[in-house]
Amino acid sequence: MGRLDAHDVISIADLRRLARGQAPRVVFDYIDGGADDEVTLRANEQVYDEVTFRPRSAVATPTCDLATTVLGRKLALPFILAPVGSTRLMYPRGEALAARAAGAAGTAYTLSTLSGTAIEEVGHASAGPLWYQLYLVGGRSVAEAALARAAAAGFSALVVTVDTPVAGLRERDLRNGTTELLARRPLAMLPFVPQILARPAWLARFLADGGLMRFPNVVLAQGPMAYADVGTALAASVVSWKDLAWIREAWHGSLVVKGLLTAEDARRAVDEGANAIVVSNHGGRQLDGAPATLRVLPEIVRAVGGRTEVLMDGGIRRGGDIAKALCLGARAVLVGRAYAYGLAAGGEKGVARAIEILRTELVRTLKLLGCAAVAELDGSFVNAPASW
Ligand code: FNR
Repeated sequence: MGRLDAHDVISIADLRRLARGQAPRVVFDYIDGGADDEVTLRANEQVYDEVTFRPRSAVATPTCDLATTVLGRKLALPFILAPVGSTRLMYPRGEALAARAAGAAGTAYTLSTLSGTAIEEVGHASAGPLWYQLYLVGGRSVAEAALARAAAAGFSALVVTVDTPVAGLRERDLRNGTTELLARRPLAMLPFVPQILARPAWLARFLADGGLMRFPNVVLAQGPMAYADVGTALAASVVSWKDLAWIREAWHGSLVVKGLLTAEDARRAVDEGANAIVVSNHGGRQLDGAPATLRVLPEIVRAVGGRTEVLMDGGIRRGGDIAKALCLGARAVLVGRAYAYGLAAGGEKGVARAIEILRTELVRTLKLLGCAAVAELDGSFVNAPASW
């Protein structure tokens, strides 16, 4: 297990390095990689450099209030754990551990449809707000069954992801032998086995956790969906705007639409009754060439004009990145890889460390800005390019 002490792990980049040392390449690259040439993946991170701060100097802020309200619930932090599929491959029962770490920190955790841990187990793990992310894999009745379970387990919001009509082509996954490893044909698998044997601690945990996970929240006629079927199932399960009508009937909690990048789609989501939207390009894992999310955030905030809550994700690796997104109009952000690296690096402690890093960096940023509360962050604290 990598060391998570404060002097060894100072930044999210340190957690990423530790994760690389813990997980087999096929798992690390699954977390780290993006679609095609990874242009959007890189842009998501680099775009924060285009926004600079306008600090208010000589202002004392002995305490900084990070609390915000999202969908009517107070969160202690303005960042939420994003849905990350197959988290259980990163660490045993990874979904439950990440949910517990989020709840302990006073923020929300989003469980992906494509998770290895059952909705009910995750529901028990966290005292904090829980959101369920929906893909329509398996079709409407399978989804409705999952929604009923999520409601019974106390999940308060449903996040419908609309940017995945087909799985993005993450070339690293192919090069690392994902297809061959899932096919379970010994001869085809052989070239890809050494990367796994090179991480014996991960392998021991993986085997003790029952080996390759299934999807316990996608219950088909023959039982929980098997791992190998996921690509086909995603392509057969496109969410379209008209689905929101029956989803609204099947789900009585808050509705969040995730994966919007234009003013037109944001307005459409509002018209369809979204209580919040997530400006997201799926962390650069879907359409390569999609814009960096921070770049389109102002356009979308202007377009919805306060009619729904605007959240965003993509490329957040620093507390300062969170501050910039809030200054440009996001009510809160979601973080994906930042906590996934932590989980792969050190289980629940790694997720807690990731949250703590972002929290302390955000507090320091606020103090340096001369701002006492995230609720007070606005466009006057940043210089963004005029064309935005
Ligand atoms: C994701 N993301 C994602 N989104 C979703 O709606 N359902 C899912 O199952 C997944 N799975 C998934 C797996 C992995 C390994 C990653 C890294 C991401 C996208 C995720 O919710 C979020 O939009 C991005 O991760 C945000 O970008 P950053 O924070 O990773 O840069």
